[in-house]
Amino acid sequence: MTRNVKRIAIVPGDGIGPEVIAEAVGVLEHVRETHSVELELQHFDWGADKYLRDGVTLPEEALEILTSDFDAILAGAFGDPRVPSNKHAEDILLGMRRGLDLYINLRPVRLLDKRLTPLRGRKVEDVDFVVFRENTEGAYCGAGGFLKKGTADEIATQEELNTRRGVERIIVAAFEYARTHGRRRVTMADKSNVQRFGGDLWGRVFTEVAAGYPEIEANHQYVDATAMFMVLDPAQYDVIVTNNLFGDILTDLGAALQGGLGLAASGNIHPGRVSLFEPVHGSAPPLAGKSEANPAGAILTTAMMLEYLGHAAASVAIERAVRDSIAHRETTRDLGGTFSTMDAGAAIRRRIMA
Ligand code: NAD
Ligand code: IPM
Ligand code: MN
Repeated sequence: MTRNVKRIAIVPGDGIGPEVIAEAVGVLEHVRETHSVELELQHFDWGADKYLRDGVTLPEEALEILTSDFDAILAGAFGDPRVPSNKHAEDILLGMRRGLDLYINLRPVRLLDKRLTPLRGRKVEDVDFVVFRENTEGAYCGAGGFLKKGTADEIATQEELNTRRGVERIIVAAFEYARTHGRRRVTMADKSNVQRFGGDLWGRVFTEVAAGYPEIEANHQYVDATAMFMVLDPAQYDVIVTNNLFGDILTDLGAALQGGLGLAASGNIHPGRVSLFEPVHGSAPPLAGKSEANPAGAILTTAMMLEYLGHAAASVAIERAVRDSIAHRETTRDLGGTFSTMDAGAAIRRRIMA
């Protein structure tokens, strides 16, 4: 019999990362039993402590090991007040996104319970879309520099990189997703009224790609309007495709629409390759060490990862369990409950049915 063991690298990271990842790992252990999912988990201690201890951020051989030995990576969060430069987070997180060429940052925005949205009078069906955030270039390319640093005449430049290949592959991914998931409309959000060059490239590629998907409506919006409409009329969105920076900002807003950062999941994906799954939230220093963080975002992220690895039934069962636990108010304080991180994780696990 051939075995279908999936190998997962677990990188808990900083702050609340280890707390929420412990609950997500508990869920993985659980579906090993309930859904016969065969997994091998290996933990890595990359994060602020390691950086402060021995100066290492993402170890030199990491990308090679992740590529050759693993099917997916499950990460917590990176960021620590003791590292104000954020160097380790940049090396580890952006290092994996860029180094593994994980060009799709897929961030679903889905309301699981109408009680949770801050929007007045909205039903769960009104908040149900996905964001395709470009994940390897844009404002995150690290290009720029200083002139006359520290003087009154100082100049800082911060550049944004848009390659034809990079723009095309994220837009194609968004349309392919729409086609295969029965979504009717793809909205591209940009700022082409000001960012003339990058915006022009995105606009031309969007029109070209859209022509290959005549059954899907191609819709262009300026991103400032998208931010407004996400609040006033979220039901108009099926798939949003946008650049790295706008995607980062819109998905924190998207998280708020679904009940907060504690619930938002994401995948950093290169189809067919080792991919990285992490909750949208960061290390939340004010919550760290208090067992107050909501583990649901990390657990829903685990569900996304299992779907990516071909375990659709386990993925659906986890999502249902999260929804049920919210309906029964077995939640942490951010959702109005009184549960600790550990108790909320255990409550979700109890509700995972084979
Ligand atoms: P954050 O997402 O860490 O937290 C913002 C606020 O959201 C928290 O103070 C808390 O009130 C709430 N929140 C977030 N996650 C929650 C959870 N699981 N349960 C309940 N409430 C939750 O954003 P920040 O404060 O801007 O950033 C803190 C650090 O995290 C920074 O160093 C930042 O760079 C880093 N960061 C890392 C990632 C990542 O690794 N993927 C993502 C975002 C921010
Ligand atoms: C995210 C985070 C990261 C980003 C930071 C920590 C570099 O905000 O994953 O949304 O900007 O992409
Ligand atoms: Mn972010």
